[in-house]
Amino acid sequence: MTYTNKTQQLLDKLQLDHPLIQAPMVGVSSPPLAAAAASRGALGSLGLSGGSAAAVENAYAAVSKLSQQPVNLNFFCHARPTGNDTKQTQWLQYLKPLFAELGANAPKKIAAPYGTFDDEPETLAALLDCNAAIVSFHFGLPAQASVQALRDNGTFVLASATSITEAKWLVAVGVDAVIAQGWEAGGHRGRFATDQQDEQLSTLLLVQQLTQDLDVPIIAAGGINDGTSAAAALTLGAAAVQMGTAFVSCPESMASKAYRAALAQPHRQSIMTTVFSGRESRGLKNRVTEVLDPFAALAPDYPIAYDAGKALAAAAAVTQSEQHIQNYSPLWAGEGFRHNRSLPAAELVTQIVEELANAES
Ligand SMILES: Cc1cc2nc3c(=O)[nH]c(=O)nc-3n(C[C@H](O)[C@H](O)[C@H](O)COP(=O)(O)O)c2cc1C
Repeated sequence: MTYTNKTQQLLDKLQLDHPLIQAPMVGVSSPPLAAAAASRGALGSLGLSGGSAAAVENAYAAVSKLSQQPVNLNFFCHARPTGNDTKQTQWLQYLKPLFAELGANAPKKIAAPYGTFDDEPETLAALLDCNAAIVSFHFGLPAQASVQALRDNGTFVLASATSITEAKWLVAVGVDAVIAQGWEAGGHRGRFATDQQDEQLSTLLLVQQLTQDLDVPIIAAGGINDGTSAAAALTLGAAAVQMGTAFVSCPESMASKAYRAALAQPHRQSIMTTVFSGRESRGLKNRVTEVLDPFAALAPDYPIAYDAGKALAAAAAVTQSEQHIQNYSPLWAGEGFRHNRSLPAAELVTQIVEELANAES
């Protein structure tokens, strides 16, 4: 298989055999998942949310027992939320009937369940201490000095962009590669240029435009669940692809049985919603999105709203009912979920690589 120079350089730099990244997914990606992806020459990733020194140290300790390959650690850089007690109390009133359907009480108060990367300077210090090889950011970047410190220490820094404006800004700050996250992508949309209207570009269009305008490697993310669609992204100039939803169904992921079962139901719909967390995210339509989507504009800021969304999912988990878990929890899924395969991650990587080779020949 012949790759472009950009792809080959990226593979050499990240010590990979294949231009495939298992996406970081908070609550879903696990050290065994990352290690299994890495065992077949892909890049494994772990999602560490806002981060902490302990999270960094634990992640490295867990992965290094399973793999000698570099791993990508991922962090959120969202803007700090503005708390508003009235708005939060009102939102909980909207959620109350959903809690009641589960025989549970809505929480009395909600607050941001996690911070943003810059809130804990110890996280950066831990990454520098551990000589992190690869770090990625979602929802923007930390302070420029933090990006610079990582790069000066030899860390390869990636970040998600959903538009040309965002990608150019990331490159100006100094990232090594841009993840082009299309509208099809599962999980949270990494958009951060919120003063601009969202063009909702598809992954392939975004990749095409970014590869024309920018010199850094562009990594395609969104709706890519097999080697054939990966080949399409590489043909359009992507240096690599990042797949999230495809890896949720692997036995090494931390996804619940009910979540996996929902992904295997082809009649399901993947929709963009803000009601679980206060921020755009793509997942399977369910009871929560049906009831709350009409009131989405009233949701508190991300991630304050997520406190309520997580409490509802926890109440559903207590019932141990597959139907309740599917109806009242976020089931993040990109538009390509119907192509998912419930294979061990190493086998999935091998199949995708074979499909990629066949598509290119
Ligand atoms: C369950 C799930 C959780 C995710 N969590 C994160 C995360 O913690 N950090 C991140 O940068 N991206 C996260 N994403 C987005 C992925 O990085 C990637 O953009 C997306 O999965 C690509 O689309 P696909 O799901 O269609 O492959 C998540 C995606 C999913 C499906």
